Amino acid sequence: MAKDQDRYWNDKDHQLDKFTQDNKGKEMSSNEGTKISNDENTLKAGLRGPTLHEDFLFQEKLAHFDRERIPERVVHARGYGAHGEFQVYKSLAHLTKASFLQDPNKITPVFVRFSQVAGSRGANETNRDVRGFATKFYTDEGNFDLVGNNIPVFFIQDSIKFPDLIHAVKPEPHTEFPQGQTAHDTFWDFIGSNTESAHMMMWIMSDRTIPRSFRMMEGFGVHTFRLVNREGTSHFVKFHWKPVLGAHSFIWDEAQKLGGADPDFHRRDLYNNIEMGNFAEYVLGLQIISEDDEFMFDFDILDATKLWPEEEVPVQIVGKMTLNRNVNNVFAETEQSALHPGRSCRASTSQMTRSFMEESFPMLIRNCIASVQIIKSSRLTALFAQSTIINETVKVVLQLTKGKWLTITII
Ligand code: HEM
Repeated sequence: MAKDQDRYWNDKDHQLDKFTQDNKGKEMSSNEGTKISNDENTLKAGLRGPTLHEDFLFQEKLAHFDRERIPERVVHARGYGAHGEFQVYKSLAHLTKASFLQDPNKITPVFVRFSQVAGSRGANETNRDVRGFATKFYTDEGNFDLVGNNIPVFFIQDSIKFPDLIHAVKPEPHTEFPQGQTAHDTFWDFIGSNTESAHMMMWIMSDRTIPRSFRMMEGFGVHTFRLVNREGTSHFVKFHWKPVLGAHSFIWDEAQKLGGADPDFHRRDLYNNIEMGNFAEYVLGLQIISEDDEFMFDFDILDATKLWPEEEVPVQIVGKMTLNRNVNNVFAETEQSALHPGRSCRASTSQMTRSFMEESFPMLIRNCIASVQIIKSSRLTALFAQSTIINETVKVVLQLTKGKWLTITII
């Protein structure tokens, strides 16, 4: 589809296209190119079998099938994504040296994966659950993943409690239900013994956790980030995505009935609307606090269980994102996108040691980064960053052992 619409054909699309194969009109073959006429019947010793062990095509097909799954994410397993573009409205050079935020004429390709936190890969999409809103910006200085949720605060202050929280929110161990819903005994045990979760609890029990559509959902970076400009001056910021259609939710009865009628409601809604040209649009907002004002508030601005009141720190709209293209292959693109809070692009090649943006709450996001790095290596292997959907659209050079340099992607 994207090829026919030049306007939506960007650097990332060109990169992905090289890994897309069109088999139309080609003869069927084995994995190693041997021409075959049939892959639906095994080689047998007689009319009624048995199947012969030397049927290498059968072995090949089964061997692939037996290994083609990767473990699902431990959280945010049920997700759906789309490609798009981001443009800043005016230069943010006073705040950051990141090149994709300097020039209003620069179009940055993006990939967004929306998800459900507790639900497994097959969960009903209208369940009451926090939603992930994770954006990968393919900037000309490397990828920046803004890994957010649709709620501005988080459950915990110290990430050592994250495994306890997730064990509590997942189905109960002796029954394996409820699936992807946040209202059961183990969950209430956790909430009851962790008072810092009270704020998040109010949001979860509101209609935020039963959104009407991904196209009508807000997104929040949650953590406090630090933007650094060329002079080295830094500001604390919170990121906000605001849907152009406005934020809307179901009422509980609608969510229940729709989930029964169509467990894939949200992905179908996003896919169909993008196909019809009703692109999903969001504006990017920033709340900004200068370093000098860090202690001006009666709460800790680095605490992810608190929000920054918008009447005290207004949200400034700085740019717009449009999701305008569906994926060609959900497994290769959405599932392998594996967004990662550690991916914050570098400001300039001469200053590789300093990212343009630093996250500021040591106990929460720093440990999340470590955890996500470990899990991605085990789910997707240590080479996960080389999948095409993750690869940066800029030239990537990896330093290997023995001082050799290997170029893995050139665009
Ligand atoms: C308390 C610390 C946290 C830890 C240890 C943690 C850990 C994880 C892990 C292990 C994954 C799965 C990654 C994968 O298998 O690909 C993940 C995914 C995710 N996390 Fe967190 N997380 C934390 C906090 C947060 C917060 C505060 C947010 C919201 C800002 C968040 C948003 C997400 C999202 C959206 C995903 C899905 C990314 C995708 O779509 O690929 N997490 N997290």
